[in-house]
Amino acid sequence: MSSIELPPPVPDRSLAVPRVATVILAAGHGTRMKSALPKVLHTVGNRPMVVRAVDTAWALNDRPPVVVIGHGADSVRQALGTRAQFVFQTEQLGTGHAVQQAATVLRDAADVVLVYYADMPLLTAPTLQTLIEGQQLHAGPITLLTLVAADPRGFGRIVRRADGTIAAIVEEHEATPEQRAIRELNVGVYAFRADWLWPRLEKLRPRQKGEYYLTDLVELAVSEGLTVQGQIVADADEVIGINTRVHLSEAESALQRRITQRWQLAGVTIRSPQSCSIDERASIGPDTIIEPNTHVQGETVIGAGCIIGPNSIIVDSRIGDHCVVLASMVEQATVENEVDMGPFVHLRPGAYLESRVHMGNFGEIKNSRIGAGSHIGHFSYIGDAQIGADVNIGAGVITVNYDGVHKHRTVIGDQAFIGSDTMLIAPVTVEANGRTAAGAVVTHDVPADFIAVGVPARLRAIKPAVDAINSPLTGDGSAAI
Ligand code: UD1
Ligand code: CA
Repeated sequence: MSSIELPPPVPDRSLAVPRVATVILAAGHGTRMKSALPKVLHTVGNRPMVVRAVDTAWALNDRPPVVVIGHGADSVRQALGTRAQFVFQTEQLGTGHAVQQAATVLRDAADVVLVYYADMPLLTAPTLQTLIEGQQLHAGPITLLTLVAADPRGFGRIVRRADGTIAAIVEEHEATPEQRAIRELNVGVYAFRADWLWPRLEKLRPRQKGEYYLTDLVELAVSEGLTVQGQIVADADEVIGINTRVHLSEAESALQRRITQRWQLAGVTIRSPQSCSIDERASIGPDTIIEPNTHVQGETVIGAGCIIGPNSIIVDSRIGDHCVVLASMVEQATVENEVDMGPFVHLRPGAYLESRVHMGNFGEIKNSRIGAGSHIGHFSYIGDAQIGADVNIGAGVITVNYDGVHKHRTVIGDQAFIGSDTMLIAPVTVEANGRTAAGAVVTHDVPADFIAVGVPARLRAIKPAVDAINSPLTGDGSAAI
């Protein structure tokens, strides 16, 4: 047997999947925020900017990004936990110096190094993916994202030569009047060929105030006869950079526009988007109407055909189909279908409303399950309770669940009738079809077909007591047998 010796395969750069490493710069002061909080911990869409930047990196790549920290390092580290690898920049000597801090951990670990700044909260993974792919097909060592915009916002200008190729990036404060007139801007997102990048960072020379500019790598590449590729970003919102709180609210508005349009195109009516906010993690079914001044927060799921608001706040909750939530607050609660509530209902954590529950004004529910078709019409507190189906809870009913030390449960069976102003002193059970009279203070369990009356309540069989329920004496205990 003979064997043919094959030459080793030639690596094909364009086909090989490149090892991409992400470096996120987050060491700067953010002085213009005028804040005790590091700039990158300010939130957009309820997530700190640096968390957003790291989430974007994970959407692209399944290895932790390297985050360069310095100012407020401990709190930034804490906000990210194990989701990032950290390198510490002791002195903020500029963006070039910042990237250089990542060299020790990444030098032999990547083919392409993606760099962006943590203060650009709306950057998306698909844009970064296009940049990486562009760099992979590019012969030169740098591909960067640019923006053409009327307002330069203090960004570095992209200087091109007569043939259209990129010659340099000039920072605004160092630009000539002609360069300041340039409207193509450096947004601060770059893909570098790694083996070119690391040695070049060492060649950077300090500029004014002793800063090493990452952007000087462009001129360096050009001086080596290499080309720098620009990719113009399509959606200017993606590259809103945050330097002040004015920019922060611009980013928030842009994010809300993005989210609102997504749901509007999916069949949700949002009457006045400028008065509402919807979390990126929330989802809303078709033909639901979001009325003005309504805020859908956290991982909320809202079904189809609902009317939410005006003036409602829904946080981390699940709401089924065809529900109405008028001027109410719903937190960590679950609501099945065809439930209507409000105005002024407060569902607190652990509230669970089965289908067709009706809740009127000023009801508060905590850690309780309310059975299908039950009514809680007016002014009630229901805590740590289990309520069956088709129960009527009269006005002003309170589950007295707390004895000052412990919380106790209230259980109410199907079709029970709880008279107005009843105090249910837990632990207590009202069995199915049991009743309480108005004003009863119920300290003992109520069996089926009994009514509890008085203070403290005594039991009477319902049958002979029916007349008493309708009598004016009912409720003050004086009619009790
Ligand atoms: C930078 C770019 C500019 C671009 C603009 C876009 C340079 C020299 N200039 O300018 O061309 O138009 O971003 O927003 O890169 N950082 C560190 N360590 C440092 C310095 C900065 O981690 O020593 C971080 C900051 O936390 C920030 C980012 O790098 O997240 C950008 O720094 P910043 O000072 O805001 O740069 P710009 O002057 O805005
Ligand atoms: Ca900046």
